[in-house]
Amino acid sequence: MDVAVIGVGHVGLVTAACLADLGHRVVGLDDDAAKIETLLTGGVPFHEPDLPQLVQEVTDSGALRFTTDLGEALADAEVVFVCVGTPPLPGGGPDLRFVERVGVEVASKVDHELVLVEKSTVPANTGRRLTHVIRREQQARGTQVTNVHVASNPEFLREGAAVHDTLNPDRIVYGTSSDFARDALRRVYAPLVERTGAPVVETDVNTAELIKHASNAFLATRISFINAVANVCDRVGADVEVVAQGMGMDARIGPAFLSAGLGYGGSCFPKDVDAFLHLSRQVGYDFRLLEEVGRINVGQREVVLDKLRDELWHLAGKTITVFGGAFKPGTDDLRESPGLHLARALIDEGATVRVYDPVASDGVRRELPDVAVFTDPLEASTGAHAVVVATDWPEVVDLDLGKLVAALDYPILVDGRNCLDPEAARAAGLRYHAIGRGHLEQH
Ligand code: UDX
Repeated sequence: MDVAVIGVGHVGLVTAACLADLGHRVVGLDDDAAKIETLLTGGVPFHEPDLPQLVQEVTDSGALRFTTDLGEALADAEVVFVCVGTPPLPGGGPDLRFVERVGVEVASKVDHELVLVEKSTVPANTGRRLTHVIRREQQARGTQVTNVHVASNPEFLREGAAVHDTLNPDRIVYGTSSDFARDALRRVYAPLVERTGAPVVETDVNTAELIKHASNAFLATRISFINAVANVCDRVGADVEVVAQGMGMDARIGPAFLSAGLGYGGSCFPKDVDAFLHLSRQVGYDFRLLEEVGRINVGQREVVLDKLRDELWHLAGKTITVFGGAFKPGTDDLRESPGLHLARALIDEGATVRVYDPVASDGVRRELPDVAVFTDPLEASTGAHAVVVATDWPEVVDLDLGKLVAALDYPILVDGRNCLDPEAARAAGLRYHAIGRGHLEQH
């Protein structure tokens, strides 16, 4: 099929490359000419494992091409995926102006029947609004009113595993409001269903939009739940790691997303929890559980700061090294990064902060211009008074702890991801603190 992808950021580029891999003819569009130039010259503008090779393969074969010209992208397209950004607004809702703009532009250029698919995460009712925008625009311009079928097809990919997740989905979800759109999406995903046997949820547009928000909000709720349990474990001297293991063995609960720590970050969970809460309020339901999920998440930074204060008393004037700028391993994404939030809180308290990150150091320098940034964890720790693990990078998990102790002024470590072996840490001479492992605390 001929497919267009509007917006080749993280979600869009992965979608475009994977659809090309499935055998479709794909054109990726972006109005950022520099980004398209990078892609045309074989580069990928962000860190994502397996993506550069896949993009290379499908562009070499001619299955994927790029343009900045919407008319060219739409010319033959049967299905158009909208992958533009939906950044958070100060009030908690997402900024949908880029989605609206795509609706207006497509309405003004399209000359044949097609399916316009929301891929970016949007709140329920966005499909209805988009349909309205397109009709309004075509009528206002007096252009031919063509049938643009709006559909929703959320993605569930994780950064750092985006290609794998897209090509091996747990499920495929699409919501449509016409046979034309449903049949088109069936044909888009037929090769993937054949390849993987993934189950398909066919539903209406509002329900598909809601599945995405409900999924992310639920995963965030699991993380905040286990973090709240961790805070009780700390106080009663229990071990949250074993609690999570014991809970996860119940088939109704399952083991995933029960890792306690510094909380969730990234471009999805914080934004989607807020957006879902915002939508619920807008439609007259006070979803207070979600408010608490966000509050617990932010509170985890204070948990780490308290552990540092217990050891160091005043943080002002102390030098503290944060291991991890990226919001999780395997990505250079700094959005809502727990490590960076912690670094800012430490600076506000008067500490001198250093950040180590193996991949995201350039971005960290831009975000925190006054902070010393390192690509070597031992160099970052030399002369520091304490280290906090904010991101469980393999480079941190495998660090020679004896050398770390030798580098530090005081051998204090707060493991904000419970990723180090407490016994090995103690044996190396560290005063080791974890999250929710009260049985280990040394006083
Ligand atoms: C998430 C969803 O997993 C994905 O389906 C959706 O499409 C986009 O949002 P992503 O943001 O890439 O993906 O990261 P993910 O791997 O899910 O982790 C999110 C955050 O939660 C990270 O900061 C991670 O460190 C944290 N996390 C995850 C925990 O603190 N504990 C856990 O048990 C799991």
